[in-house]
Amino acid sequence: MATVSLPPRLSLASLRKASATCRACDLYKYATQTVFGEGKARARFMLVGEQPGDKEDLAGHPFVGPAGRVLHDALAEAGIDPADAYVTNAVKHFKFIERGKRRIHQKPKVIEIQACRPWLEGELTVVKPQLVVALGATAAYTLLGPKFRLTQHRGELVSSPLAGRVMATVHPSSILRQRDSDSRHREYAGFVEDLRRAAEYGRA
Ligand code: URA
Repeated sequence: MATVSLPPRLSLASLRKASATCRACDLYKYATQTVFGEGKARARFMLVGEQPGDKEDLAGHPFVGPAGRVLHDALAEAGIDPADAYVTNAVKHFKFIERGKRRIHQKPKVIEIQACRPWLEGELTVVKPQLVVALGATAAYTLLGPKFRLTQHRGELVSSPLAGRVMATVHPSSILRQRDSDSRHREYAGFVEDLRRAAEYGRA
């Protein structure tokens, strides 16, 4: 398997360009394209998801599908300006299995997360966010390592050698997976509450 070599001059544009031809793991063979992060360099917040979904893979932009709508609504409710939020993923290719005409999301393997990590490191080096928000277990694993337990430390400000100040919360797609509307509302309210906390951490 090839490894990532980052461009000599790091900028979001140079990273994005180099990532488009990434062959560091096999996911590129099946995905439509690399979905790199988006937002301004020096954004105050960096939000890290797991990997692009079906819609993101086709559009080439992160968080533009159903989970993205939940995320953007919750950010607005928490008072985080989208212009202040750089949005990206731990893994930058969509991993899926085909079931008939549907492409079903598959959790990335550790080896794929590790292969993709240099791109996230590059983004962190350029953006230097005040706070990184890990959305879900894969992002938390990537940023905080295998010992971090999201269920125990959700919403807490923690430090990461990779990313400085980090807060982990649930992934917005976990809200969409709730069985009934009561639990969806409850989970969504908890997510907004975590993002409100993130807004405070990011301004401190
Ligand atoms: N889920 C993610 O983790 N990232 C996206 O970009 C979309 C859905």
